[in-house]
Amino acid sequence: MPKTIDGFSKFNKLEKVNWLVSTFFNNDESAKQVLMQYWNANKVIQDLHDDFIENTISNFYVPFGIAPNFKINNKDYTIPMAIEESSVVAAASLVAKFWSTRGGFKAKVISTSKIGQVHFMYEGNKSNLEQYFNTKKEQFFIVTEDITKNMRKRGGGILDIELRDKTAELGNYYQLHVTFETVDSMGANFINSCLEAIAKEFERSDVQIVMSILSNYVPDCLVHAEVSCKVEELYAENSELFAQKFVQAVQIANAEPHRAVTHNKGIMNGIDAVVIATGNDFRAIEAGAHAYAAKSGTYKSLTNATIENGIFKFWIEIPLAVGTVGGLTKLHPLSKLSLQILGNPSAKELMEIIAVAGLAQNFAALRALTTTGIQKGHMKMHLTNIIKQLGATEEDKQFLINYFDAKTITHNAVVEAYNKLVQNK
Ligand code: MEV
Repeated sequence: MPKTIDGFSKFNKLEKVNWLVSTFFNNDESAKQVLMQYWNANKVIQDLHDDFIENTISNFYVPFGIAPNFKINNKDYTIPMAIEESSVVAAASLVAKFWSTRGGFKAKVISTSKIGQVHFMYEGNKSNLEQYFNTKKEQFFIVTEDITKNMRKRGGGILDIELRDKTAELGNYYQLHVTFETVDSMGANFINSCLEAIAKEFERSDVQIVMSILSNYVPDCLVHAEVSCKVEELYAENSELFAQKFVQAVQIANAEPHRAVTHNKGIMNGIDAVVIATGNDFRAIEAGAHAYAAKSGTYKSLTNATIENGIFKFWIEIPLAVGTVGGLTKLHPLSKLSLQILGNPSAKELMEIIAVAGLAQNFAALRALTTTGIQKGHMKMHLTNIIKQLGATEEDKQFLINYFDAKTITHNAVVEAYNKLVQNK
């Protein structure tokens, strides 16, 4: 049976499912059941999700959790997180509590401007191009007036339009480099619409427009978040050594790209979870964050830490182009709810919250890595999962958790211990 098909997008949902099940599952009804059991019983909700993308055949659940007890700029937050990885929400909650008794997190937005570019080719004389650009510049603002009207009312709009000569990088390549303020929206559609209108106005026979698109590299949409306390307040057992090893761990990530990637991945565990929960675009955030981590030419840590005059300080600086209006933010019922849990923040406040979630996650990872190692926590979780699979009673579960407290956890060892326990009853 052929595995390709014409006109698939014209099928209704059930027809799409049927094609899939007959083509890839030999008409096995159980495959159909798996897909259909995730359909929402509420037709309005399901229709909404069906329309988010194309060729929707079902929903793919990701757990939605909350991490309470975050204190940010002296305000209490419960942070919603959508993530499939175990331990992330637990780590966020523990670290939130830890820092809430040490002054909490301090966060500040440094800048909020976003970038879009009209990329074009021009073979002629550069000064003629500059002259042409100068005669057009005012017109660019006029032709985008309808698009920018509402944004301007909210305090945003096009900040500046520059002509940039990129011919040193690529022959005949120039661009219109446009900066935007998009206030509480992420602004992707707004930016792209403005750029296309500008490009149309700029076009002439010797200017070949290649493309007009926003940039997800937003080094001027930057937020800083930090924690600090006296070294002796840091860790109950041996604060000095803990602080020292923690700072060394950050220095290693700054010195070594292999480690930096994993270090930053841990940060993105926290960042992405909040970005997704609030209906923002995590691919855009990821691309921009990693580009920023490599801005010096070497991929480095997004966080830094110091010990100065007995004070431990740990901070993050990260570009975050997010919105609290537009896109999915208010359209997805759970994103809307997430924003309500956060007290309906502005985009700037959301940047601060997300940066804190990333910093908290990195603190948790480095604390575990430089002390007990991360496997202890992971294996505990693994143990409870195995016990659950075995169908153990609550009493047996407690016994096994105590039994493995100081023993190495492997699947076989847990199954053996469980079987012995059941046999001896
Ligand atoms: C796992 O998802 C994240 C960590 O590997 C991050 C790190 O190593 O810093 C624990």
